[in-house]
Amino acid sequence: MEVIKRTKVVDILKSEAFGSTVNVKGWVRTRRGSKQVSFIALNDGSTIHNVQIVVDVDKWGDDFLKSITTGASLSVNGILSPSQGKGQSVEIQATEIEIYGTADPAVYPLQKKGHSMEFLREIAHLRPRTNTFGAVFRMRHNMAYAIHKFFHDRGFFYFHTPIITASDCEGAGQMFQVTTMNLYDLKKDEKGSIIYDDDFFGKQTSLTVSGQLEGELAATALGQIYTFGPTFRAENSNTPRHLAEFWMIEPEVAFNNITDNMDLAEEFIKYCVRWALENCADDVKFLNDMFDKELIARLEGVLKEPFVRLPYTEGIKILEEAVAKGHKFEFPVYWGVDLASEHERYLVEEHFKRPVILTDYPKEIKAFYMKQNEDGKTVRAMDVLFPKIGEIIGGSEREADYDKLLTRIKELNIPMKDMWWYLDIRRFGSVPHSGFGLGFERLLLFVTGMTNIRDVIPFPRTPNNAEF
Ligand code: 4AD
Ligand code: MG
Repeated sequence: MEVIKRTKVVDILKSEAFGSTVNVKGWVRTRRGSKQVSFIALNDGSTIHNVQIVVDVDKWGDDFLKSITTGASLSVNGILSPSQGKGQSVEIQATEIEIYGTADPAVYPLQKKGHSMEFLREIAHLRPRTNTFGAVFRMRHNMAYAIHKFFHDRGFFYFHTPIITASDCEGAGQMFQVTTMNLYDLKKDEKGSIIYDDDFFGKQTSLTVSGQLEGELAATALGQIYTFGPTFRAENSNTPRHLAEFWMIEPEVAFNNITDNMDLAEEFIKYCVRWALENCADDVKFLNDMFDKELIARLEGVLKEPFVRLPYTEGIKILEEAVAKGHKFEFPVYWGVDLASEHERYLVEEHFKRPVILTDYPKEIKAFYMKQNEDGKTVRAMDVLFPKIGEIIGGSEREADYDKLLTRIKELNIPMKDMWWYLDIRRFGSVPHSGFGLGFERLLLFVTGMTNIRDVIPFPRTPNNAEF
């Protein structure tokens, strides 16, 4: 076969070099045709679109063409021509074909017919080859790029916080332990507690639930930073919005108060949504047409108006009024309750019909580090609530006062031996500062219109599932 430099499908489809000989490589999506001519739809992952290869059946013969089935991989040389077929601008008249690998139709699981998302999760090693997951994972890349660009352009520094840690940032006790100890032969003291002196780090360690605490150290030195890394939560919630391993983006800014923090969160998330519409147009359109006819309208919708900003206490009043008027929620509503996703979505989708930033939550349902309000009951927290998703961002102004923070740590029985370094930044040059965490997969749920968080991460980790 003549060696010609490969052109990616995304570029071929834009080319007008008709009459020139080109090479494309990729995987067969479909092959159809007649006795004389065969049409191969070839995809190489660079775009949702396929390029059509036109094959003269007489030239290759049925036996050769029989192995070109869905999933087979090919290298094709051919002449670029304007296409007669509708919906495509170019096609390639094949002159040489090499089959790299066949995919026996009797066993290759991705045939033409639509598969359920549940089935595709079982073959997560192959699902990136489908149109849907190709679109989702191209968008995942693009959103990660947009996030780095957003912060870099605004002078934030990307700061790497540890994956293995001895502190529980959210204090929810949902940590996966990290150990090299022999679990069959654990050393214990008289009370039966495990002795960690001989463990790898000489103390009990876990996978991080958040990079925030170390992010605060960085923000009070570099001014404004963000983290973007994997986080882990051993919460046994089998919902379409929870993963045991997910990626989080956590900006932290010195001298920002809660209002600055809300402004940043709103600007940031609108930037991400606009990026998806402008830079992932083909994939968004595909997902809109195939799964969710309101996707594009919903994305454009959140860009149109400012987000509602509302204290938790006001939000509870609205929900109580809804209950009084006969609206049925599965979970009860009262001041002090940790809102369920159905409550968050009622505020966003039914009451305000746009995103809501809920602030000033009861301190009992929020983490120890949040700045305490004068009322003694609430803290300067902010959750950004989104249509279809519920909570997409959680953040706060941080408690900058050493004594107040120490008192709260003691009230909650957080072990001081893990917290001395965190308290030190309140001892030396303490400043007001704020930050938040965006769940990357929750953002992806929103911009792709997928309904299960397992379908926006390549290899989901959930209770009872760590395949691949
Ligand atoms: O609200 P969370 O728990 O806040 C924090 O971790 C803070 N330390 C953030 C900060 O202030 N720097 O989590 C932040 C976001 C949530 O709003 C949600 O989008 C996502 O992380 N999230 C999850 N996403 C997927 N699966 C889970 N189990 C998640 N838990 C939280
Ligand atoms: Mg939260």
